[in-house]
Amino acid sequence: MKRVYVWTLPTRLFHWLFVAFIVATWISADEDRWLSIHVALGSTLAGLLIFRLLWGIMGPKYSKFSDFNFKISELKEYLAGIFHPSRVYVGHNPAASYIMIAMFITVGLAIISGFLAYGIQENRGILAFLHTEAFRQMDLFKEIHEFFVNALLVLIAVHVGGVLVDRYLHSSEATLTSIFDGYKNMEGDNVTLSLVQKIMAAIGIGGSIGILIYVLSIPNNLLIASHTPKINYEKEHPLFVNECASCHTLYPPSLLPQQSWVKLMEDLSNHFGDDASLESADHRSILEYLLEHSAEGSRQEMSVKMMQTLQNRDIIAITQTQFWKQTHRHVPVEVFQSDLVKSRANCKACHSDVEQGVIEDNAIKSIAIKG
Ligand code: HEC
Ligand code: HEC
Repeated sequence: MKRVYVWTLPTRLFHWLFVAFIVATWISADEDRWLSIHVALGSTLAGLLIFRLLWGIMGPKYSKFSDFNFKISELKEYLAGIFHPSRVYVGHNPAASYIMIAMFITVGLAIISGFLAYGIQENRGILAFLHTEAFRQMDLFKEIHEFFVNALLVLIAVHVGGVLVDRYLHSSEATLTSIFDGYKNMEGDNVTLSLVQKIMAAIGIGGSIGILIYVLSIPNNLLIASHTPKINYEKEHPLFVNECASCHTLYPPSLLPQQSWVKLMEDLSNHFGDDASLESADHRSILEYLLEHSAEGSRQEMSVKMMQTLQNRDIIAITQTQFWKQTHRHVPVEVFQSDLVKSRANCKACHSDVEQGVIEDNAIKSIAIKG
């Protein structure tokens, strides 16, 4: 039987790394505190995709986009004759050519929209400069990102479905195994790689893995650095710290709207069953500080979402708000009751940065889910 070498090592390696990183990136989206890892994996995918685009221009026969078959007439003919094909395709058949390109474009759009959402919602990464302008649309960008991810899942299903159909209808061609060993059972020109192509593949694939190592190992690197400053309350308003962090976590003023702070400060003598009353000068100073830094004036994700979802503006307990309840719906009750946490209001048990006025995804402690 005739055999032809179609997919060289870099093409196959790209394929399997692309698969692995898409799966890993998808899994890492599951928990907020893995967001930095999610971005590291997504950035690696970006590297792999750029390599594949260059490979599609300067790579070997069959892997080059110019060898893909986009003729509509042949696509129709291929699909109509799927049970009794009149010809064999050494590289991608017309249907596969379209799916491949659609997958590359969709992965590209998922990555771009991911960086947009990361920049606009989290004020992090290379697109963080858009945060100031666009933070009100943070949900929209996250939805766009999710849309492209879902589109990709559909395309992957079509691709795998196509390969399986091919496996049963045209099993003698060995298309499925070709992505493992590079060979198909048909007549054609064997591919070889030039030295330039070998170097290109080493740099492209090695560089992509390099991106992963860079993002995971260098703190505050370009791709994940936060542009939301942490606040030193001790320096900004020592009285606020002394009075409002003596019994519990120092709640960031940006977590509640002005109306809530006014209401809370009106009744300090009966403050959740405690007497937290203040002298009038201190009272005035703290209230002023709270109002100046309330949720209304903050661009942070937590403030924006708090304001968007708040129904009753009289609410004074953060843990009673729609936003807080929604955000923590997956945290088991036992975790809040555990010895390490004790109360829902004990934010700092789980959020190591809350007393610096921010609540970052990557600062959520692991006890927050295990207890
Ligand atoms: C004498 C102790 C004490 C002091 C001082 C105190 N608090 Fe509290 N605070 C409490 C208690 C007790 C709770 C209820 C905590 C719980 O539910 O576990 C509470 C709850 C809160 C909550 C709601 C937390 C939630 O459940 O979402 C806010 C907001 C709050 N305090 C703000 C302040 C501010 C602002 C100050 C400073 C002006 C302050 N507290 C000073 C005892 C105190
Ligand atoms: C038992 C641990 C625990 C406590 C206590 C806790 N949280 Fe959280 N919080 C979490 C976890 C876990 C998440 C992530 C939820 C997820 O990924 O589904 C989270 C998420 C958040 C987020 C969203 C972060 C983001 O960027 O997505 C905010 C804001 C937040 N918490 C605020 C608070 C505040 C304010 C308090 C105190 C009033 C508090 N939390 C108390 C565990 C806790």
